[in-house]
Amino acid sequence: MTGTRNRVEVLHGVNLDMLGKRDAGHYGTLTLVELEVRIRHWARQLGLETSFFHTNSEAAFVERLHQAPQVADGLVLNPGAWTHYSYAIRDALEIADVPAIEVHLSDVDNREEWRRHSVVTELVRGRVTGKGPDGYRDALELLARELGIDPPTAA
Ligand code: DQA
Repeated sequence: MTGTRNRVEVLHGVNLDMLGKRDAGHYGTLTLVELEVRIRHWARQLGLETSFFHTNSEAAFVERLHQAPQVADGLVLNPGAWTHYSYAIRDALEIADVPAIEVHLSDVDNREEWRRHSVVTELVRGRVTGKGPDGYRDALELLARELGIDPPTAA
């Protein structure tokens, strides 16, 4: 045990398992598995260890957040449509009290009016929207900074 706080849990919410079949104009063409491969790669470059969780069940997402303090030092979360209305997820994130970055593949602030509101934004340390998969790299960088992780020097 080195005491390094570098464990990042990446949480994907409702409908994100359908990436690859969703509107490519907003969400690109990568599947969730392909996206997670990229995220793991970027995380390694930053000296972060990743775990991944996806569910279409709001209850399961809440329960995973309850476990977050035991399994992660930081969170990258994209709750999908729950972002805009789930006070249950908002409260669970507050209870977890783990540094978190909110990510959206699409430019939620410039789409339908109802996507502009996020119930989690007031709780997160950073927010990345509209950058597609690369937004996750930005989120990991923000989180690494929050956790005080220095990127490993190239071998
Ligand atoms: C999303 C944006 C949400 O509005 C939408 O409901 C999603 C995905 C995004 O990544 O752009 O499912 O969170």
